[in-house]
Amino acid sequence: MNTTAYWREIRKSFPKLAKKYGTPLFVVSKTLLLEQVARFRRLLPRVEPFYAVKANPNPHVLKVLAQAGLGFDVASAPEIEWVLAAGATPDKLVYANTMKRNESIEFACRHKVNLMTFDSEYELAKIARHAPGASVMVRIKVPNVGSIVELSLKFGADPADAVPLLLKAGRLGLKPVGVSFHVGSQCTHGDNYLEAFELCKIIVNEALLKKLPLEMLDIGGGFPIRHFDTDEDWFANMAPAIDMELRRLFDPGMRIIAEPGRALVGPACMLLTSVVGKSIRNNKHWYFLDDGVYGALSGIIFDHCKYQFEVLKKGPTQLTTLAGPTCDSLDIISGAEELPELDFGDLVYARSIGAYSLASATTFNGIPPAKPVLVP
Ligand SMILES: Cc1ncc(COP(=O)(O)O)c(C=O)c1O
Repeated sequence: MNTTAYWREIRKSFPKLAKKYGTPLFVVSKTLLLEQVARFRRLLPRVEPFYAVKANPNPHVLKVLAQAGLGFDVASAPEIEWVLAAGATPDKLVYANTMKRNESIEFACRHKVNLMTFDSEYELAKIARHAPGASVMVRIKVPNVGSIVELSLKFGADPADAVPLLLKAGRLGLKPVGVSFHVGSQCTHGDNYLEAFELCKIIVNEALLKKLPLEMLDIGGGFPIRHFDTDEDWFANMAPAIDMELRRLFDPGMRIIAEPGRALVGPACMLLTSVVGKSIRNNKHWYFLDDGVYGALSGIIFDHCKYQFEVLKKGPTQLTTLAGPTCDSLDIISGAEELPELDFGDLVYARSIGAYSLASATTFNGIPPAKPVLVP
């Protein structure tokens, strides 16, 4: 079944799912998740995907991806625990948070998670003390031009310091294996990757001159999806140039991994909410849903997301405001949706909501986050 046909079918099942599990309901589609994995592998065949757990650590998601043979990018001791519980083996993990608690480094070491990133001398000293002999990749600062979520503000060593840092890692008894970077999340500017590759190639060459052959390149996450205002398939457009440059610059002996989060899980999930309150303000319909920006729609705040809201009901549409269920005025989901008139209990749903949504949901006002459910 192609994706459009699948969507038609799953949409038809929404009332049944809502009735069975209640709303708000966070629907994880195994079919769509595996389709995203296949698409990533198709677009970048030389790159091994290590799913960035932070995007969505739901156990259903982790289990499906572990069964599909993916690696995982983890950012904390609990993420290590969750991924191992989902069936991944420690050699499939990269601890890719450059700022780690000492206890978490020890935890990783005890659980045989041996590959980590760092971007400062201070972190190197911590890793050397708490995970002696670990393999390390230096994370460098790279251009994040045009990415929705900028990540080089907070992370990344100056590229000029990369080789001295890797040499220092060796002197501390660690195994310096490679270079990593992140171009920023929802990166629609493919040149960010290409410029980062050039920087990495310079580092690889310089390291070789110092008798330090590097074996690994970690090209991070950032691969964009379609749900931000436009239907443009950014990832498909930029992938051929990324693939070509990787082949041109790095010989086949170089292991290349990536840490995609959004691109794998974003399109694989949907959120079903119900109308629980109504009012008319300034001649405009307001509908209060049973989920909002403190719940699975938290990406509106933290991830700068603009979701598209749809309903099953048909009829003449009008300009409508959607709000969440909490007592905070910040909890307004959208002030400009074209929707038909809705009743209590009517479903309002959003697609492509798998990334940075449930992961940052709270229980503010005592309202529990949407219930996750896996569908085939
Ligand atoms: C170190 C690291 N790797 C991977 C990711 C995933 O990025 P994305 O979801 O854009 O693919 C992030 C996101 O913040 C990150 O910080």
